[in-house]
Amino acid sequence: MSLIKLKINERTYQTEADPDTPLLWVLRDHLGLTGTKFGCGMAMCGACTVHVNGEATRSCVLPVSAVTNARITTIEGLSVQGDHPVQKAWDEADVPQCGYCQAGQIMTAAAFLRKNPKPTDAEIETAMSGNLCRCGTYHRIREAIHLAASRPKK
Ligand code: FES
Ligand code: FES
Repeated sequence: MSLIKLKINERTYQTEADPDTPLLWVLRDHLGLTGTKFGCGMAMCGACTVHVNGEATRSCVLPVSAVTNARITTIEGLSVQGDHPVQKAWDEADVPQCGYCQAGQIMTAAAFLRKNPKPTDAEIETAMSGNLCRCGTYHRIREAIHLAASRPKK
């Protein structure tokens, strides 16, 4: 089997994964980047969201062969020390409950705020509507996104 090269969090990785393997499982099982979570495996919940060339993307339905030339960022690489404005705002607003969905929420929010640095409530709702949270932390997610929007960007 030939090696697949990936650029993740500014590092180059190699994997022997089958080219059809979803990126999520390459990240978690082959490369040990377990911050990205499995929720549904059907692009329905957002738990597996990473950035591909800066766009929030569901890694559970994305064959690894499709991203060999892409710049991939996972929650581990969003900031060096967990101090991205979105992560800090998440801390301040005390967003997580069980935490399971939160990496995906943060990755979606970070990509969204890059495009829309001063969003309204309605815009936040639309942008985040594909990221489900069984614990119902939606109001704190919205609060944290407003908080992050009020801070200097990285
Ligand atoms: S695990 Fe990918 S969207 Fe649910
Ligand atoms: S914090 Fe528990 S699923 Fe979102």
